Amino acid sequence: MKRIGMLTSGGDCQALNAAMRGVVKSLATSGIEMEVYGFLEGYKGLIYGNFRMLSPKDFSGILTRGGTILGTSRTPFKTIREPDENGLDKVEAMKQNYYKLQLDCLVVLGGNGSQKTANLLSEEGLNVVSLPKTIDNDLWGTDMTFGFQSAVDVATTAIDYIHTTADSHGRVFIVEVMGHKVGWLTLNAGMAGGADVILIPEIPYDIKKVIDAIEGREKRGSRFTILAVAEGAISKEDAKLSKKEYKEKLANYVYPSVSYELADQIQKLTGREVRVTVPGHMQRGGAPDPYDRVFASRLGAEAGQLILKEKYGYMVAYKNREIVKVPLSEIAGKLKKVPSDASIIKEAKMLGVCFGD
Ligand code: F6P
Repeated sequence: MKRIGMLTSGGDCQALNAAMRGVVKSLATSGIEMEVYGFLEGYKGLIYGNFRMLSPKDFSGILTRGGTILGTSRTPFKTIREPDENGLDKVEAMKQNYYKLQLDCLVVLGGNGSQKTANLLSEEGLNVVSLPKTIDNDLWGTDMTFGFQSAVDVATTAIDYIHTTADSHGRVFIVEVMGHKVGWLTLNAGMAGGADVILIPEIPYDIKKVIDAIEGREKRGSRFTILAVAEGAISKEDAKLSKKEYKEKLANYVYPSVSYELADQIQKLTGREVRVTVPGHMQRGGAPDPYDRVFASRLGAEAGQLILKEKYGYMVAYKNREIVKVPLSEIAGKLKKVPSDASIIKEAKMLGVCFGD
């Protein structure tokens, strides 16, 4: 008999349900008896003892369903050691609930912050197995996270749609893509959608280079330009600012996001009509694509096997086309950025894509 706690934490993404289904199916197929305690709304559920008993039936029919059947929330790692508004020690509360329910292990599906908390709980003595979720693909220790490919699909579709209207009107269009502080999503959706300019946080941009790219296209007979801009894109000047100076700039920032600032600059400097489209949370919504269904199911299946073998303290990951396990202590606190010398960047440049550098 295995008593398994499970939770989904942080921003949701596609294929969370597929991954949980993978874990439970893999355990059920082995013939082991189990009790699954589904903690509601992420770590909050574990802290406050809010859970739902789940049977294998609850995991049936959810392979294709977006969101998470457990609900999720953000419980920031940086305040995890601080007591809550009623003075409750959150880490102690999580441990107490784990022991009270006599759990054999805790399965955590999460991104960067959630993996840090998973590592902390593992260091505190709980048996933890985690799975890598996030549309940002910024988790250290894995080449790919689930949710990423589905989000690439959504962002690419947005760029595809914009292409036709941009062509009709001969406008400059900016599509702002999620991804937090990294550019994986923008880079991949931008290339898949044939964006002419791709701006990512890892390569600070020079507005003059961006304008050269727009004007160059016009000289070559193109009536429109599409820019895929990461929500975390940053100009060369801003990248030079100290943390304090950048914070000050943001405090007086008049634009909703970097895309609107860019649009304003391009409009003023070139006189061209510029429009901004922000697909936003659509990128995390809807059904997982076939890639993510397969990928999350594989990760879930392997997580189930780790539980059977009682191998704890690991995240199931994907490296060099293989599913592997990576110690949680190796992942926590690191960010997987797009290397500025990545071959995909070089190849995009060979195709004429401007990165603003
Ligand atoms: O980490 C996933 C993500 O969608 C990021 O791409 C984005 O910056 C952030 O979450 C948005 O967070 P929230 O849903 O809390 O607004």
